[in-house]
Amino acid sequence: MVKPMDYRLVMFVLTGLVISGAHTRDYHFVSIPLNWTEAQIFCRDIYTDLVTIENTEEITAVLDTTSDYTGQAWIGLSDDLENGWRWSLSNSIFYSQDERQFKNWDYGYPLGGPNRCVELFGDVIAQGKWGDAGCDSKRPFVCYSDLNDTSFVKIEQPLNWTDAQKYCRKNYVDLASVRSNAENAIIANLTSGDSVWIGLFWDKVWSDGSTSLFRHWAEGESNSSVEECVTTAFSDVGLWSGENCSLSFPFVCYTADLPNAENFMLTQKNTTSITLQWDRVSSADAFVLQYDDMEINITASYGEGPMTYTVSFLTAGTDYEFTLFSEFQGYRSSGVNINAATDKIPVHVVRLNMMVTSLVQLSQTDLDHHLEKLVGLHGLSPKVLSIKVKSDSP
Ligand SMILES: *[C@@H]1O[C@H](CO)[C@@H](O)[C@H](O)[C@H]1NC(C)=O
Ligand SMILES: *[C@@H]1O[C@H](CO)[C@@H](O)[C@H](O)[C@H]1NC(C)=O
Ligand SMILES: *[C@@H]1O[C@H](CO)[C@@H](O)[C@H](O)[C@H]1NC(C)=O
Ligand SMILES: *[C@@H]1O[C@H](CO)[C@@H](O)[C@H](O)[C@H]1NC(C)=O
Ligand SMILES: *[C@@H]1O[C@H](CO)[C@@H](O)[C@H](O)[C@H]1NC(C)=O
Ligand SMILES: *[C@@H]1O[C@H](CO)[C@@H](O)[C@H](O)[C@H]1NC(C)=O
Ligand SMILES: *[C@@H]1O[C@H](CO)[C@@H](O)[C@H](O)[C@H]1NC(C)=O
Ligand SMILES: *[C@@H]1O[C@H](CO)[C@@H](O)[C@H](O)[C@H]1NC(C)=O
Repeated sequence: MVKPMDYRLVMFVLTGLVISGAHTRDYHFVSIPLNWTEAQIFCRDIYTDLVTIENTEEITAVLDTTSDYTGQAWIGLSDDLENGWRWSLSNSIFYSQDERQFKNWDYGYPLGGPNRCVELFGDVIAQGKWGDAGCDSKRPFVCYSDLNDTSFVKIEQPLNWTDAQKYCRKNYVDLASVRSNAENAIIANLTSGDSVWIGLFWDKVWSDGSTSLFRHWAEGESNSSVEECVTTAFSDVGLWSGENCSLSFPFVCYTADLPNAENFMLTQKNTTSITLQWDRVSSADAFVLQYDDMEINITASYGEGPMTYTVSFLTAGTDYEFTLFSEFQGYRSSGVNINAATDKIPVHVVRLNMMVTSLVQLSQTDLDHHLEKLVGLHGLSPKVLSIKVKSDSP
């Protein structure tokens, strides 16, 4: 007769999750001279777009794309006749689509060229109509204020457009945006005969829609007076200059960061296999899973729910680092990592006291038989156990 008095199961499970990521953008120098529009088409075809440069690190990265060219190359900045006019207050939730497009040009305006800032006329004949003028001219101006009930505030002191913008941003919200005839009438009513700056200005736009205001102009280039496209020099610290868009230059394209898969995690594991799961990435056509110097290509499947993949033939009780990359046409995302360990082969420590009712010597077979029954009672399979019995005293 066997009576379990005490038993203990000990299991070791190790799981560690570490997620990290970094951003990289790939730049590609294309040495074929094309006009700006052709270059844009080429970049959008083969890569993501003509390059957008938003800081000095990116200038360096662009210059590093080639070492054997010292001329000019197109970048993604150009005058865009459709979208060149922009509001100083760029917050997109402030406008509906129609409101952003609202214009009230006077006859014969906009003049274009170097006239890149917009005034609202205050004289009787053209009152409330708009015209474009040089940004360096000084005018009274109208700020937008969301304080109190007053939406618009006229500032009498004439400033150039950039100083007026600074003043409004410091003391109110921004230079006035005009979204409708109603708002235009309110501002027209404030002018008292003066022409005033409002928040509309012309600026070159980035091919990929970036609203970055970072500029790296060569001296005398910033207020060029014709519709132009922009080149970077591959000498001279990469300074920018405007050129006629129909000229042919080499150019620089970029490939956007491919997003990493989100929610990369372990969902199941045992002693020999680990099942991983991650969210689909709409712009990826494949995933690459790296571990232990191995690479597995996983084709992106379509449909609902997360992607899963089971890695088999692993070693029990071992910690693995998995890195998952999204891929699109051979370009990889920066990758996300997790660490996950296979289960250890479980260790069960069973201690029992047995009371022997008669002085019959138990054989090893009897002992094994009783022990197997015992572990069976606790839901374990005796077949996989190696049972070792050590008696303390007779
Ligand atoms: C406006 O005036 C400031 C000096 O007050 C000057 O630094 C700035 O360049 C001017 N802006 C324009 C567009 O002329
Ligand atoms: C808003 O109202 C407060 C007090 O009522 C006043 O001091 C302040 O100048 C007003 N601000 C504007 C922008 O009109
Ligand atoms: C214009 O100003 C006058 C007097 O200040 C006011 O009565 C009128 O309602 C204003 N009109 C608009 C459109 O704000
Ligand atoms: C624009 O360029 C012209 C000549 O190139 C120069 O005289 C003028 O001062 C410039 N204006 C600004 C605002 O830089
Ligand atoms: C650009 O060059 C073309 C061809 O030489 C010419 O027809 C066009 O007027 C130029 N455009 C500008 C804005 O100078
Ligand atoms: C660029 O070249 C294409 C084809 O050669 C032409 O159709 C297009 O008008 C050119 N663009 C400019 C801005 O010159
Ligand atoms: C581990 O799990 C995998 C898949 O979930 C399964 O195919 C395999 O038989 C399991 N191995 C063991 C030892 O339980
Ligand atoms: C994964 O795919 C890439 C390109 O499709 C190929 O070069 C590479 O050999 C593949 N790797 C594996 C492990 O199949």
